[in-house]
Amino acid sequence: MALRPYIVGNWKMHGTRAMLSEARAIDRAAERLLKAEVALAPPYTLIHATRKEATLIGVGAQDCHAAEGGAHTGDISAAMLKDAGAGFVIVGHSERRADHGETDAVVKAKAEAALGAGLSAIVCVGETEAERDAGKAEAVVSAQLEGSLPTGDGAAEKVTVAYEPVWAIGTGRTPTVEDVGAMHRSIRQTLERIYGEAGAQVRILYGGSVKPDNAAELLAADEVGGALVGGASLTAEQFLGIIVAAAELGEH
Ligand code: 13P
Repeated sequence: MALRPYIVGNWKMHGTRAMLSEARAIDRAAERLLKAEVALAPPYTLIHATRKEATLIGVGAQDCHAAEGGAHTGDISAAMLKDAGAGFVIVGHSERRADHGETDAVVKAKAEAALGAGLSAIVCVGETEAERDAGKAEAVVSAQLEGSLPTGDGAAEKVTVAYEPVWAIGTGRTPTVEDVGAMHRSIRQTLERIYGEAGAQVRILYGGSVKPDNAAELLAADEVGGALVGGASLTAEQFLGIIVAAAELGEH
């Protein structure tokens, strides 16, 4: 585990201004728990307000368009996100890959657009249950990384990988700690193949049904540098349970 675990809440399509009180509470708690680095990715509509409410935590977006601007009705560019106060953007989430047909090439273009606008990028990868059952999980994830990760000068320093097995998202099911460790070791190898020495420093988050009661063991698995949290990031109370577990690990 890296010294300062990175705990990112992905609010998905949840949250109106009424939820800013949760962001404030998370921010206040994060101030006391400096052993963990905490961030939230609210919906676009709350990015600016969250940035204004929260002083310590990172604030980011859940997606961006690959183009700098233009005739793309309903889309948002990385530069717009930065202007709204975002510091990072999640790209390649499995829900976007599934719901919007995003390919690895699209994800890579979005990640490169994010870096180009001065944001960092959290690039998501993960296998389906059928792929795991077929013994192909590591190969699938490795191919996703090869196709989705941004390249170019300094890219490794601005990238975080999130491993989110599709079958663990929102299901209450998680891989075993051994399986998480094995996958994260495999991801590390792929990162070093792609980025050389710089690949050793890239943070690898685990995501998929992380809750306060399983966070400590998942975060302690090999090569896990933090967590990408969906449902349990929606209330300060639940998210704090995960942040506390991370802060305790960060102290060792
Ligand atoms: P859950 O924590 O709700 O399983 O969601 C995980 C996720 O998809 C985070 O991006």
